[in-house]
Amino acid sequence: MPATDTCVRNARLADASAISRITQGYADEGIMLKRPVENIIEHIRDFFVADYNGRVIGCCAIAFYTVKLAEIRSLAVLDEFRSKGIGRLLVEKAEAVLTEEGVEEVFVLTLNPGFFSKMGYRQIEKEYFPQKIWRDCTNCPKLMACDEIAMVKTL
Ligand SMILES: CC(C)(COP(=O)(O)OP(=O)(O)OC[C@H]1O[C@@H](n2cnc3c(N)ncnc32)[C@H](O)[C@@H]1OP(=O)(O)O)[C@@H](O)C(=O)NCCC(=O)NCCS
Repeated sequence: MPATDTCVRNARLADASAISRITQGYADEGIMLKRPVENIIEHIRDFFVADYNGRVIGCCAIAFYTVKLAEIRSLAVLDEFRSKGIGRLLVEKAEAVLTEEGVEEVFVLTLNPGFFSKMGYRQIEKEYFPQKIWRDCTNCPKLMACDEIAMVKTL
């Protein structure tokens, strides 16, 4: 399945349950933050999906923090479609939209630094950004034992 057969498009409400299924699997493994379907619906305009012949096989979302700073989050590709260039397509789409908006820096919190390093991100101390930007951290069960790696890319 070449990545050229897959398009990355804005998510629609009808994609919410597919996004939830994709992210839930990795959340159960402790690789990603859990996002209940109600939360995905509330933020559906922030999501992009990878669509392969009408099937949603991957997703990611963007979140704005300042006019120059944003985050890419909830990036996931269905296990059977991994390592086929889909993650790259999703990140490139998100970065293109952020660039159009005038964003200059994008960060991620991840347990997969290898992939983001390949995408041009560099590791930073979490303190690089003011603590308050780690919006989701206060609701995270790992709060005091955070093992995620912060990475940033200048667009
Ligand atoms: C991370 C993830 C989204 C990557 O998507 P993917 O479709 O498998 O990745 P791609 O095939 O687009 O890989 C793009 C490049 O990154 C490389 N890459 C992918 N994962 C890598 C890793 N763990 N370490 C190093 N390089 C990696 C690929 O080899 C490829 O390199 P190439 O272009 O030179 O061939 C996917 O593996 C996934 O869903 N993982 C589980 C959830 C997760 O960890 N999400 C990130 C949370 S922030």
